[in-house]
Amino acid sequence: MKIAITGANSAVGQTLLGHIARDGELVGIAGVRSKTAADGLPAAPNIVPRVISYDDPARLAEALAGARCVVHLAGILIEARGTSYESANVEASRAVVEAARRIGAEHVVFVSVLGADPRSSNRYLKSKGEAERIVGEAGPSSTVIRTPILLGPGTAGANALLRAVSKGKASLLGGGRYVMRPLDVDDLCAAILTAARARPQGHHTHELGGPEPIAYRDLVQRFARAMGKEVAMGAVPVWIAKLAAGIASRLSGGGMTPQVIDIITGHEEIAENADAALGVRLTPLDETLRKIIRSA
Ligand SMILES: NC(=O)c1ccc[n+]([C@@H]2O[C@H](COP(=O)([O-])OP(=O)(O)OC[C@H]3O[C@@H](n4cnc5c(N)ncnc54)[C@H](OP(=O)(O)O)[C@@H]3O)[C@@H](O)[C@H]2O)c1
Repeated sequence: MKIAITGANSAVGQTLLGHIARDGELVGIAGVRSKTAADGLPAAPNIVPRVISYDDPARLAEALAGARCVVHLAGILIEARGTSYESANVEASRAVVEAARRIGAEHVVFVSVLGADPRSSNRYLKSKGEAERIVGEAGPSSTVIRTPILLGPGTAGANALLRAVSKGKASLLGGGRYVMRPLDVDDLCAAILTAARARPQGHHTHELGGPEPIAYRDLVQRFARAMGKEVAMGAVPVWIAKLAAGIASRLSGGGMTPQVIDIITGHEEIAENADAALGVRLTPLDETLRKIIRSA
């Protein structure tokens, strides 16, 4: 079965391609935006890199043709000059859904975020909520998977932990007291492939979190200990960080904003975990941390 993946060079995409490469029955059309990104993808006989653009649904459809399921991963948390939530999260989703409809794909899987809501006052959550609505109103049936912070080799979350340990000190927003539900990126990929294989009728939204809620400061300590290191913890008051981010982001036209800080420091809560529904056995957090250390 052919699966098309957008944002295939993302941290989730690279891991998903690894799962597909090890599977004898799947073929992955790996959509990326540049030749450089295509050259960096894992090489395997059943991975077909394609350079795609989200500006032209007809050409996007041509690139994804043959896929029975489209997995839409492209998306951003941090805006930059020329890359807004509107273009990366909303318009790219519209183009992908339109392309999926044109090629007669049976199903779309979309990776979203906990708290996504088209009525949210947070622009990131709003854009992900709008993308969910676009996916849900489209022709093909769909599975939306809302996730907390993702951990695994190459993820932004893992890179932040590695940076903190290598510096030996970490200045944590609000002292890192916010509680997360880190999800192993391999578990997310297993869930994506379950949905891609099952292609259930209708539109489904799931929340999928990791097995253990943990305050960020405890996560940093636990990761450091697993590496046999110590990290000195400092605290940056959230209001100061937001003030600084507000000024810096206005000057630079992107980067860390007060709204991104709200996302990072928000408690991650899950009403009903979809691990069983999506056929996933959640990886214990310590095992996820060991995987990051092995790959570093
Ligand atoms: N990482 C997390 O903790 C987390 C948590 C919740 C949800 N998610 C969601 O999961 C998905 C994958 O996350 P990730 O962390 O693996 O992503 P990532 O590594 O940050 O990669 C982002 C991807 O989005 C693409 N992209 C950026 N700007 C774009 C634009 N304007 N138009 C189209 N594509 C654009 C990038 O392509 P280029 O390389 O060409 O820029 C890249 O393929 C995203 O939708 C993200 O919102 C992630």
